[in-house]
Amino acid sequence: MQMIVTKDNLEDFYLKDPGYDPATSKYYEGIMTQGNGYMHVRGSYDEGLIAEKQDLEYDRKPANVTLEVQRFPLSKWGTFVPGVVGPHPFLMTEMINQPYFFDTVLTVDGERLDMAESRISDYERILNLSDGVLTRSFRWDCRNGAALRLTYKRFISMDRKHLALSQLMIKGLSGSARVQIDAGINAGVRTNGFDHFTSIRKNQRQTGCSLEVETNGGNKVLIVSEIEADADFSGKKDINDAIYSSGTVEINENTEFLMTRYIALCTDRDQEEDSLSFRARSVIEEARRAGAQTIYDDHKTAWEKRWSASDIRIKGDHRAQLAIRASIYHLMRAADREDPRVAIGAKGHAGEAYFGRYFWDTEINMLPFFLHTDPEAARNLLMFRYLTLDGARENAKSYGYPGARYAWESSVSGHEECACWQYADHEIHVTADIAYAMKNYISATGDEEFMENFGLEILIETSRYWVKRADKNRNGEYELLAVMGPDEYLPMTRNNYYTNRMVKFSLDLTCAELESLEEKEPLKYRVLKERLGLKDDEKKLFKEVADNMRLPKTDDGSDIVPQSDDFFDYADIDFDEVWKDRSKCFGTCISQEHNYRVKALKQADVLENMLLFGPEFTDEVKSKNYDYYEPITTHDSSLSAAVHGIIAARLGRMDEAEKFLDKVIDIDMDEAAGGAKEGIHIANCGGLWQLIVYGFAGLGPAMWNESADFKPMLPAGWEELEIPFFWKGRSLKVVISDNKAVLIER
Ligand code: BGC
Repeated sequence: MQMIVTKDNLEDFYLKDPGYDPATSKYYEGIMTQGNGYMHVRGSYDEGLIAEKQDLEYDRKPANVTLEVQRFPLSKWGTFVPGVVGPHPFLMTEMINQPYFFDTVLTVDGERLDMAESRISDYERILNLSDGVLTRSFRWDCRNGAALRLTYKRFISMDRKHLALSQLMIKGLSGSARVQIDAGINAGVRTNGFDHFTSIRKNQRQTGCSLEVETNGGNKVLIVSEIEADADFSGKKDINDAIYSSGTVEINENTEFLMTRYIALCTDRDQEEDSLSFRARSVIEEARRAGAQTIYDDHKTAWEKRWSASDIRIKGDHRAQLAIRASIYHLMRAADREDPRVAIGAKGHAGEAYFGRYFWDTEINMLPFFLHTDPEAARNLLMFRYLTLDGARENAKSYGYPGARYAWESSVSGHEECACWQYADHEIHVTADIAYAMKNYISATGDEEFMENFGLEILIETSRYWVKRADKNRNGEYELLAVMGPDEYLPMTRNNYYTNRMVKFSLDLTCAELESLEEKEPLKYRVLKERLGLKDDEKKLFKEVADNMRLPKTDDGSDIVPQSDDFFDYADIDFDEVWKDRSKCFGTCISQEHNYRVKALKQADVLENMLLFGPEFTDEVKSKNYDYYEPITTHDSSLSAAVHGIIAARLGRMDEAEKFLDKVIDIDMDEAAGGAKEGIHIANCGGLWQLIVYGFAGLGPAMWNESADFKPMLPAGWEELEIPFFWKGRSLKVVISDNKAVLIER
């Protein structure tokens, strides 16, 4: 037996953790999250940290997640299977943190290995983004005088989605040690302070153990762990909510010991048939037959396939190179390509913040990446919205409207899960963002069938909601009152430009798609109309509201697009007086009451609209609006910097674009800031991709352009930029240097 031989050791694919540090340990757990779409595990140490109890219970009440101070300073385990959710007493439905299956405790003469307490040196930990393998290696000088070198490797198989594999190699350096190894599954975990497990069943097996939980969401999750090693692991330990297979190995100078664990996770939500135990056992048996190396090789091939469709190469900027690869890695890891019943949670299934829920982030920030690198995954993300249409219908009903209203925060059913009223009630633009995303998808892929079979139903139902949500004013215009736009620091404004424009787009699209279907496929059109009970009067109303949707404007010649009709009535604020410490979010330096009455944006709003509806504004107008809004934008949301960067790059304002590039990169890559502690800002990962592709490479979005045209403006120092992408069914690659783009068929 030997450790798996992993391939391509390219520094530009390595995320490195320089060594245990209480200030950054939780950050590395987040950024080193591994996964395969189906399941995800934070990059916690296999043995955990003794100081951080994982089953701490506390009351976590609804709050503004951006501003909240989270618990667990050092370490928080996280094992997530996105569809497995359950009710939290205060926070509604959340993704449940599952039992931690990499748990491996090592003890030598009563000393338990702990990165914080033990004598550790010569440490290296690397997440290889090219194959998702996490490797850790260090020297442990045990208290009994022996010195050991420990090397760990682990991954979640990309092609055998229920399988994870971990290896531990112990080498004797000097002295001798009896190392006790307890390798098992630990259900002593909580999600946002709450225990979702209603029962835990533990089982001992000849060479392993298993643990099955039932959740308060009504699901069963079974984890089976099997050990392969030249040692007896038939000893068992059943401690509280955990079960371990135990073995003891004698390590002397130059002895080598290898343990391989095959871990299978299955749930009753899976699409496969057969019992959980049969399936989990089959996964393990097949894996053992194949052997660790073959499993790795297959896994690597699956990753290679993904990278060949998505890898962006930047010559001349190592930091940006690593950051875009980390972003692409997390986007690919987070998307379940086979199961449209789940989408991508706002923290990329890498932490408990945002409760694993789906926001507009998916459609607006992440989708463009998938449109151009993995159209099937993009389709799945939209299918998720189709499959949750019933939930959206119920949301509309609960607010007293017909049709469908998508949740500001959606879980797997589509019901509104946001526990804070401001967002739940007023941040309605997500419903129209979904329509925009569908059109974007069809423009980029040409998959018209999606619209006919699924999209139109979404459009009709959401249009029915919009025409009731809009109020007709005395000038015959339709208004959207009491709305929160993307800028969440103004909770109830009149006619938020972004929202109104999106809704108009959505209604126009409904009318155009209905017309086109009627013309091209009259029979299909009639069937659809009948099935949804669509009346001609309704169609007329869709058009009337679209044609007369109010879009706020100024008539003072300034060309500033008002964020909302009442935007200029809000008070000015002296940022220097209120926001002294710029390393903190602005929102933490001001009361919410005060924040809600001043002109201080959380994130891009008018500028977000200018990005999505680019051709509707001249560069001059964009520039004026950028100059007006940027200084009053706090960028407290991670969705803001990329939008500003793209607009700045397109306007040729490269200093600013580069400043925003830094900001975008720092959001998750700056270990001191620790952004990834509670999970990955996955919308920002999509944002970085867009900043490079739309901003610096200057690709005209498929939404507005027939052919793939690039107008590059590369940051200083970028010698060459290479981007593979799909464009309306073609597989292409662009290579840019000296601000010249060469397009190559792939
Ligand atoms: C942002 C929203 C975003 C959400 C989830 C909030 O802080 O303001 O725009 O959808 O986070 O990422």
